[in-house]
Amino acid sequence: MRAAEIRKKFLEFFRERDHEMVPSSPVVPLDDPTLLFANAGMNQFKSVFTGAETRDYVRAASTQKCIRAGGKHNDLENVGYTARHLTFFEMLGNFSFGDYFKSDACRWAWELVTEGFGIDKKDLWITVYHEDDEARAVWRDEVGIADDRIVGLGAADNYWSMGDVGPCGPCSEIFFDRGDAAACGPKCALGVCDCDRYMEIWNLVFMQFEKHPDGTQTALPKPSIDTGMGLERISMVLQQKESVFDTDALAAIMNEIATITGRPYDTGDAGTPHRVIADHVRSLTFAIADGAYPSNEGRGYVLRRILRRAARYGYKLGMEEAFIYRLVEFLGREMGEAFPELIERQEVIAKLIRSEEEQFGRTLNQGMTRFGDVSDRLGKGEAFPAAEAFFLHDTCGFPIDLTEQMCREQGLDVDKAGYETLMAQQKERSRKSTSATTESAGATVVKISTTEPTVFTGYQEFQGNGQVREVLATPGRFQIVLDATPFYAESGGQVGDTGTIASGDFRLRVTGTKKQDGVFVHDCELDGGDPEAVRADVTVETAVDAERRLAIHRNHTATHLVHAALRDVLGDHVQQKGSLVAPDRLRFDVSHFEKVSADELREVERRVQEQILQDTAIEVTECDKDEALARGAMAFFGEKYGDKVRVVQIGDYSLELCGGAHCARTGEIGGFLFVHEGSVSSGVRRVEALTGTGTLERVRDAEDILRDVCGSLKTDRDALGERIEGLLQEIKDLKTANKKSAQKDLLAEIDGGAGDRWSEGGREVIAASWEGADMDEILRVADALKRRDGERVFVLASYDDGGVRFLVGSSAAVKKGQVHCGNIARDGAKTLGGGGGGRPDMAQAGGKDVAKLAEAMQLMRDAAAQQLGS
Ligand code: SER
Repeated sequence: MRAAEIRKKFLEFFRERDHEMVPSSPVVPLDDPTLLFANAGMNQFKSVFTGAETRDYVRAASTQKCIRAGGKHNDLENVGYTARHLTFFEMLGNFSFGDYFKSDACRWAWELVTEGFGIDKKDLWITVYHEDDEARAVWRDEVGIADDRIVGLGAADNYWSMGDVGPCGPCSEIFFDRGDAAACGPKCALGVCDCDRYMEIWNLVFMQFEKHPDGTQTALPKPSIDTGMGLERISMVLQQKESVFDTDALAAIMNEIATITGRPYDTGDAGTPHRVIADHVRSLTFAIADGAYPSNEGRGYVLRRILRRAARYGYKLGMEEAFIYRLVEFLGREMGEAFPELIERQEVIAKLIRSEEEQFGRTLNQGMTRFGDVSDRLGKGEAFPAAEAFFLHDTCGFPIDLTEQMCREQGLDVDKAGYETLMAQQKERSRKSTSATTESAGATVVKISTTEPTVFTGYQEFQGNGQVREVLATPGRFQIVLDATPFYAESGGQVGDTGTIASGDFRLRVTGTKKQDGVFVHDCELDGGDPEAVRADVTVETAVDAERRLAIHRNHTATHLVHAALRDVLGDHVQQKGSLVAPDRLRFDVSHFEKVSADELREVERRVQEQILQDTAIEVTECDKDEALARGAMAFFGEKYGDKVRVVQIGDYSLELCGGAHCARTGEIGGFLFVHEGSVSSGVRRVEALTGTGTLERVRDAEDILRDVCGSLKTDRDALGERIEGLLQEIKDLKTANKKSAQKDLLAEIDGGAGDRWSEGGREVIAASWEGADMDEILRVADALKRRDGERVFVLASYDDGGVRFLVGSSAAVKKGQVHCGNIARDGAKTLGGGGGGRPDMAQAGGKDVAKLAEAMQLMRDAAAQQLGS
C-alpha cells in the first residue's frame, strides 16, 4: 500500500464515522507564539479543546505536516541514526471535541489497524498510563486484548502535552513488534529500551487538562480525543521495510541523493548522511514553503541549524559545493500533488536554501579542518575546549549542537559550560557597544521624574494647548514635559516631531521629541522671551511643524505599501527588520537572501504607485491583539505589543499593527521612487525611497545632470550610452598605445646608452632605473634583453616615493651556474630595506628605502660584473 493510499484509507475510515475532513494547517504556526513548528495534528484545534473556540463539528480527521525540531518535541539528534525518526513527517489523526472518548477511540483504532490495514494482532502491543485503569479496561474488556500485552508506563512515555502550555492528558500507544531480529539485546523489551524493535505507530491521547504559563493545570470543558499516527511509520510497517527511509515516501529522494553525490545509499551506518539529508531537506522545504526562513533567531535559527547539519553530512559525502537546493525541485515532483505549495514556491525555496548553503559553504571547510586539528589532539572522553567551540560558532558558523554531534561521533565531550560563558560575555560586549552608540547618537539622557503618561493628541491635531508638568534646564536648552501634546515622540521607526512651544512670555523651538515609558519629552531651545518664565504649571500653546509632519505621514504610509509590495513581488519570507520614517525619505530593512534586482524594484515601485493612484482611505482602528492577528495583521512576535493595539489598514492591500502617524488617503503620498538598494548584513537588504515632492526634486536633479552630461559630451540622451561606451573604449585604446610607446622608449633609452654599464670581452652588465616606470614594461624590456645575443646581466628598476621595485636577469647565453640573479637581487633588496629573490636567471625584489637606490644599483652591478667576469 503506497503512502497516498494509506492516507486515503485512514481519512476514509473516519469520514465514514462522521468526522469532518480538515486540511493540514501550515507547518509554521505564525499565529501561535508558543510553538516553533506544528508538532502534532492537534495544534490547529488547540482552542477547540480548551473551549475558547467552537466549530460546527465535534469530530475531525486530518493529515498534518509536522516538524519536530527545536521545541518540546525534538527528534533532530535521532534522525539518521534510527529506523523511525524524522524531523518532518505527516501525522494522520482523528479528534473528538467533547464527543466520543476512550472507548470509541480505542475500538476504532484497533479496527483500522487490524482489519483495515491487516496488521497481525500478534505483532501488536499496547501501552497505557500506569494510573489509567479505565484505558486498560477498555483495551482488555472491550477490545479483547490479553492483559499481559498491555504495558503500564509512567508520565514520560504515556502522558502527552503539546508544550509547556496547552492541552494535555494521559495517552495510550499502539506498538508494532518488528521481531527478535530487530532486538537490541537480551534485555530488549517494550518500555525498557528505546531501540527500533518495538515501534510506536499510533498515539491516542485522552485530552483532559490544560497547562497554563504559571504551571497550574485546569480541566478541559469536556474530555476529548486527539490521536496521531505517523504516515511514514505506518507505511514502513505495511510496506514491510527496514526503515522509514525505505518507504515509498522517501525512497525516491534517497536515490536522488545517491545520484547527486555519486555515493550509493547504504542501509547501515554508512547511510546516515543520506538519511539526514533526505529528512532535513523535507523539513526545510516545507517550512520555507509555509513562510519561515533561516535566520539567527527563533524558528529561523532552528532551520539554519537543520540546514548546516545537512550541509555538514553532505561534506562527509564529499560535497563541498551547494547541492541541497537541487533536491527542492525533485521534492516538488514527488510530493507536489498532495502539497501544491511546494511547487508554487519552488523557486524561492531553492534560492533561499542555496544562498544559505553558499553562505555556510564559505566557512565549512575551515571549520571542519579546525575541528579535525583540535579533535586529533584529544583522547576519547576528553572535552573539546570551550574556546574552540566558540571559535567554530563565531567564525565558522557551526551551531553548538553541530559541534556536539561531531564530538559525539569521536567519543569526545564538549566544555558546554565554558562555551555558554563565552557566549554570555560576547552578548554583554555587544550590548555595551550598542547602548554606547545610542547614547552618543544623542538619545535623551535626562532623568525626568514625571510618571503619568502624556496624552498624545497629534494623530489628528497639529496644534493645541498644554500645561507644563516638568522642566529640566541646561544652558541654552530645556527638556519639557507637558500633560498633553500633539508632538509625536520617536518610536516604531518614525522620527520625533519638531515645532514650537510658546506662552505669552517665551517661545521655544522644539528640535526633537522622545518618550520614556509613555512620558513625552520635548527637547527645546529658547527662541525668544524670558527663560525664567519657562516653569512648571505654565499653560503653553503647542504647534507641530505641519509640513514636516505631513511629509513624515507620506513616508510612513508608503513604508507600509513598500512592505506589502515587497512581499508580493519577492515572497512571504520578506519580513521587516527595521525602518526609519523621516520627513525627507524612508528606509526599510527586510529579510531577503539576495540583491533585489532593478526589475524587482521597478515592479515594487509600480505597485506602490498603483496604490497611490487608487487614493485608498487609510483606516485606523484599535482592538485586541488577538482580534488583530485573527484579521491577519502583520506583527512580529519578537516585539512587545500591549493587549490593545492599533491597526492600520490600507484597503485590502496592507494590514499592520502600528502606532505611527499616517496619511488619510494614499493619494497624499503623491509620488514614490526608490533611490537605494543595498546589503545591511547577511540575509538583510535595505531599500531607501522618496515620496511626495521629494521624488520630483530627485527626478528634476537627475534630468539636469543628464542634460549637462549630454551637453558636455555633445550628444543627446538616446545616444548617451553609446557615446560613453565609445569614450571608454577610446580611453582603453589610448592607454594601451601609451604603454606600448613607453615600452619602446625604455628599450630605446638603453640602446642609446642609458644606465650604468660594465662591459668586457663582449660580456655586458646594464643597471638602469626609471621613476614611475610600469613593471609590465620593465618585464617586456627584460624579455627583449634576455633574448638578445651575447652574455648579458641587467638590473632594471622602477622607483617612486613609495619605494623601489627591480628585476635582475641574465641573457640566454650566460652559462648556467655562473651568475645567480636571485642572490644578487636579495642583496640589493637588503640594502633597500626590503626583501625578495628568485631564480638564478631571473629575480624580482624591492624595498622601501629609495634614498639607497644608487647604492643598491651599484652593489648589484658590481656583483653581476664580478660573477660574469670570473
Ligand atoms: N498529539 C499526540 C501526538 O502527537 C497525538 O496526536 O503524539
